[in-house]
Amino acid sequence: MSTPPPAPSPSPAQPPVLVTRRLAPGVIEGLTAHHAVTCHDSDQAMDRADLLAAVRGRRAVLTTLDDRVDGEFLDAAGPGLAIVANHAVGHHNIDLAACAERGVLVSHTPGVLTTATADMAWALLLAATRRLGEGERLLRSGRPWTWAPNFLLGLELAGTPLGVLGMGRIGQAVARRARAFDMPVSYHNRRELAPEQADGATWRPLEELLATSTVLVVTAPLSAATRHLLDARRLALLPRGAVVVSMTAGVVDEEALAAALESGALFAAAVDNFEHEPAVPAALLAQERAVLAPHLGSATVRTRQAMGGLAVDNILAVLGGGAPVTPVTA
Ligand code: GLV
Repeated sequence: MSTPPPAPSPSPAQPPVLVTRRLAPGVIEGLTAHHAVTCHDSDQAMDRADLLAAVRGRRAVLTTLDDRVDGEFLDAAGPGLAIVANHAVGHHNIDLAACAERGVLVSHTPGVLTTATADMAWALLLAATRRLGEGERLLRSGRPWTWAPNFLLGLELAGTPLGVLGMGRIGQAVARRARAFDMPVSYHNRRELAPEQADGATWRPLEELLATSTVLVVTAPLSAATRHLLDARRLALLPRGAVVVSMTAGVVDEEALAAALESGALFAAAVDNFEHEPAVPAALLAQERAVLAPHLGSATVRTRQAMGGLAVDNILAVLGGGAPVTPVTA
């Protein structure tokens, strides 16, 4: 019979809190005012081996989507770990069952990034429908150009049906902004929303939503049920000449999206974050009609301070003996 390895014990010199990435200005002070903190003060994610070594003996870890929190991570942390506070609304980097088994609480940052992310969805939607990326690249290339009646024509939004796939907080904020553009809005969600939340948008079954949306914005969170929900078959249900804006990595199959652009089935697409970041599929990079953003959905100073502040508040609450402010509920 082999003896189990001794559980790592917190060293008295080890600060109880680990922050795995440099935070927005002013955020870390909210933690350091109350607890000793080790911060990986860099814009790069920690190497896995460094992360596993650094997490040992901590009571709280502030993580980002790049930090995989699984059994290995939790074993490396040891039994003193009370909370993993993710600096994101998403939490697909975290094995919730493994955390629950060990009694480790998990929090995320919903609400505070809703408007910034909805604004970015609209920035991408407008860039894709009006061919802004192509126009910019053309001017910067120095190639000759001239105004012409048929030059870089885009898609007009007024009266064009908008579909929102995933009508949570961000999807609802995307839909609200559509009113200013006079677009009729439909959505698909696991459950139909109450009228005050739907705000005039019509619920449709997924395949009907796809068949009727000339512009589709994807805001459904990534989960086992939504991974590659928009595969080649479902993308083919969109009307010819549709535009897809993807705000959640992994829900749209990126290779299938590139193929639909290549074939001309789609007019344009925009993607804000990618399944295997920082890698961007070559097939998408090759598409002139793809607007590609390096995961900028929540990237404003105000929102990043609010996200960091909420992650900090979750840690303070749990280390103070209370419940997380914004727990992840399975
Ligand atoms: C995405 O960036 C998130 O916050 O989940």
